[in-house]
Amino acid sequence: MRDSRSNTMNTLETREALTSILPYLPLILRSSSLFWPPPMVEALKSLARGPLHSNVNSGQVFAIAISDLRNLLSLPDSALHPSALHGYALFFDDFMSRDASEKWFGNVVPQLADLLLRLPELLESHYQNAASFNGTETGLRLLESQQQGIVFLSQELIAALLVCSFFCLFPATNRGAKHLQAINFDNLFTCLYESHDISQENKIKCIVHYFEKICSCMPGGNVSFERKVLPLTNSPSHISSPKANFWSKSSVSLCHFEVHSSGLIEDQPAEALEVDFANKYIGGGALFRGCVQEEIRFMINPELIVGMLFLPAMADNESIEIIGTQRFCDYTGYASSFCFSGDYKDVKGVDSMGRRKTRIIAIDALSRVGKRQYTPECLLRETNKAFCGFYDQSSRQQYENLFVDTEFSEAEFDEGNGNPLESSTRNLLTYFQSVNETSSNQPMRVNEQKWDDDKVGIATGNWGCGAFGGDPEVKAIIQWLAASQALRPFILYYTFGLESSRKLDKVVQWIISQKWNVGELWEMLVEYSRQKLKQQTKLTFFEWLLPSLYDDDPMIMDTSFT
Ligand SMILES: *[C@@H]1O[C@H](CO)[C@@H](O)[C@H](O)[C@H]1NC(C)=O
Ligand SMILES: *[C@@H]1O[C@H](CO)[C@@H](O)[C@H](O)[C@H]1NC(C)=O
Ligand SMILES: *[C@@H]1O[C@H](CO)[C@@H](O)[C@H](O)[C@H]1NC(C)=O
Repeated sequence: MRDSRSNTMNTLETREALTSILPYLPLILRSSSLFWPPPMVEALKSLARGPLHSNVNSGQVFAIAISDLRNLLSLPDSALHPSALHGYALFFDDFMSRDASEKWFGNVVPQLADLLLRLPELLESHYQNAASFNGTETGLRLLESQQQGIVFLSQELIAALLVCSFFCLFPATNRGAKHLQAINFDNLFTCLYESHDISQENKIKCIVHYFEKICSCMPGGNVSFERKVLPLTNSPSHISSPKANFWSKSSVSLCHFEVHSSGLIEDQPAEALEVDFANKYIGGGALFRGCVQEEIRFMINPELIVGMLFLPAMADNESIEIIGTQRFCDYTGYASSFCFSGDYKDVKGVDSMGRRKTRIIAIDALSRVGKRQYTPECLLRETNKAFCGFYDQSSRQQYENLFVDTEFSEAEFDEGNGNPLESSTRNLLTYFQSVNETSSNQPMRVNEQKWDDDKVGIATGNWGCGAFGGDPEVKAIIQWLAASQALRPFILYYTFGLESSRKLDKVVQWIISQKWNVGELWEMLVEYSRQKLKQQTKLTFFEWLLPSLYDDDPMIMDTSFT
């Protein structure tokens, strides 16, 4: 049996994938098989037999057990911060009811230990499946910056990896050097102990609920994590301005834009890519003290956390798309008022590859750039970032036609200019050709197998506008431009009750009545931003664009929304 396994573990792809990720896993590789170090196996077996055997029946003893396991792995940085150990004890001994804690240590922890024991086997069969993905590399590996690619994991393997995080078994060294965030849960518990935030306690409740639920019923689906890279500057002679040109010349129509003044992105009912207002380190402060949009999503869909294991920070021209995570938790509140409010039954449909049709796109906005957000560079960076998230590989053919068209019309208009192709259009064409070429090693084929439903739109909101300090009106328009250019059929925009989003619906209707295309709206945005930078206007973009909206104009007030 070992032999047949080692054969598939021995393919070049698997060896390469393993070589990249092995330094970040707690397992050892010997003659093409993965193992726990033997003393670990004994310790985990003891845990798996339950508290009567292992004595692990309280948070305090559990914290010691975790420390012991780490010692058995001889992790170079094996001592956890004392506050982390206090945090584990605090949560399971003080915050959890006695009943719940008895169930946790009697039932759940032994099953989690069992799952850990199976990690080597789960990984090996993962690499076997990955090898049979007709040429597409999907195995667990470090998906480094500028490496377009996809990792396809079963929910069960994700669960086993998250147990490693919970037991703090991942080696922590060298993660920083690779621009990887911490992946063990010790900081989560350190923050709990040191801050006593109710929201922190509730974040941990979400994760504990996740473990309880997978132990009572292990989900059988799959989740994919994809790094999307947009090489807009692949022509070395055209680095800067032509890119803005591309946006200003685009004649693509604006897509449908629907404003929702109540509701949340994760509850949107359509087929849509749900935007994660991400940190460039995906997950942001999820495993620390953070508790805003991205972190909350990571707590209610905890399988997202596993991406932090192997996805280094995003560059400006990158985004991360995650399809298939299950939502386990319900909640109320936001930030300091965040509160776990019980089980969530996820009834989202499943695609042909066993993934829930929950598609999450992580795009990181510029953080705290202040007035600089109105510079052409920043406008471009944000629009391209959103486009990188929103473009859809399966529409590639349409993009190509579109860009060819743009090229022709440009050639007509620019007669006499001599070299109409020296433009971003050409860069984009080159870009799609290069995507075409690289697709022979096929990082994208997996996602092209789309479900049969209608086209997938975008569900978003005030991206980059909270702590990141973005201008919500500008950000809404940027996302509209990007979604339209990516040929998405619609945007569902959740304003989250933000005051400055109140006029959004009106402004959108007005813009649509003007029949502007992407290029025309882009030009307006650029002109406004220029004036804003030069302090020629104090108005917001919407006020500047449509002053009458802010007068007591009865014609407009008549149709005002309630
Ligand atoms: C993407 O951005 C990175 C960093 O900003 C840059 O080094 C790289 O060349 C860009 N990649 C492409 C293909 O344009
Ligand atoms: C999950 O993916 C594997 C291939 O990695 C496949 O064999 C399996 O059928 C998928 N699961 C479901 C529920 O479709
Ligand atoms: C992409 O590849 C297909 C087939 O491999 C080819 O027919 C098509 O012309 C290519 N498109 C571009 C833009 O290179």
